[in-house]
Amino acid sequence: MSANKVLIGGGTGFIGQNLRKLLSTTGYNIVNVSRMPGANNVSWSTIENSGLPPNTKAVVNCAGQQFMDFTKSWTPGFKQNVQNSRIYTTRALSQAINESNDKPKVFVLVTGVGAYEPSNTIKYDECSPTTGTDFFSQLLVEWEKAANVNPPVRLVIIRSGAVIGRDGGMIKNMIVPFFFGLGGRLGSGKQYLPWIHIDDLVGLIKFAIENEEVKGILNGVAPQVITNEQFTQSFAKAMGRPAFFPVPESVLNFLLHPERAMIVTKGQHVVPKRVLEYGFKYQYDNIDDACKECAHLFPKK
Ligand SMILES: NC(=O)c1ccc[n+]([C@@H]2O[C@H](COP(=O)([O-])OP(=O)(O)OC[C@H]3O[C@@H](n4cnc5c(N)ncnc54)[C@H](OP(=O)(O)O)[C@@H]3O)[C@@H](O)[C@H]2O)c1
Repeated sequence: MSANKVLIGGGTGFIGQNLRKLLSTTGYNIVNVSRMPGANNVSWSTIENSGLPPNTKAVVNCAGQQFMDFTKSWTPGFKQNVQNSRIYTTRALSQAINESNDKPKVFVLVTGVGAYEPSNTIKYDECSPTTGTDFFSQLLVEWEKAANVNPPVRLVIIRSGAVIGRDGGMIKNMIVPFFFGLGGRLGSGKQYLPWIHIDDLVGLIKFAIENEEVKGILNGVAPQVITNEQFTQSFAKAMGRPAFFPVPESVLNFLLHPERAMIVTKGQHVVPKRVLEYGFKYQYDNIDDACKECAHLFPKK
């Protein structure tokens, strides 16, 4: 089994746990890098001081402080935590890979479509420039720069859209209000909402690990481009509820801080050009099917 050892930074999170489930049922042996002790966990300081566990064949980073944690105010300290938890973990893994005498074949980093400055007119593929001036565009540049591995290690950076899945991300935040019929579009609802179902995101990570020709940037989004209003209608329908309660942009700016609220009030038209060219097959290529799969109040066992 050690021939298939995968080290996952943030393997305890929403994406990380789903990835572990997929990989461990298909013959991989998983080690998590976590701030918490646990079976199959190693700490970040172990990675920094002692390097990669022996026989690591692939490294994936899904670590990062959640910025949509509504219990945390958007203070300079919290912003620093949002940045450091992504940049420092990525740098620690890159350094461990570069210093290893028994290098893994591939490093996969999960970042976000926030790399592209929000726009209602520009269509972004993986070759588009990332020259945004907002907080998230700039964070993404530094974050991706921290993934600096020397050949022959393959580097794949997956810029994920909003991940649709019952146990995390935006669905976890909105399922209760939608269940009580209190859902509605955010802001104007006209902003693009790049999205991907969790099964497709972890499938794409596995695809990147297993296919040696895959390298560089991949837009981890479904091919169907939708707006926030379309998502809202689709999710409400899947829940069997109306969605009569739009949340105005000014309220979101007041509650979240405008710099953070832009993640939901603004959007980008992002297409997965390279993902499709590589021949990746999506399980959920339309939002209605993706919403139906996760529109249940109680998580499935
Ligand atoms: N979910 C989405 O819709 C989405 C979309 C695009 C991009 N992404 C990106 O994908 C990554 C994973 O997202 P997720 O939804 O799986 O997040 P998550 O459920 O919050 O999990 C993130 C993991 O990161 C680790 N972490 C949190 N704060 C940390 C800190 N201060 N220092 C080091 N590690 C920390 C935690 O692991 P331990 O507690 O075990 O240390 C946690 O399990 C994030 O970087 C996120 O920005 C997510």
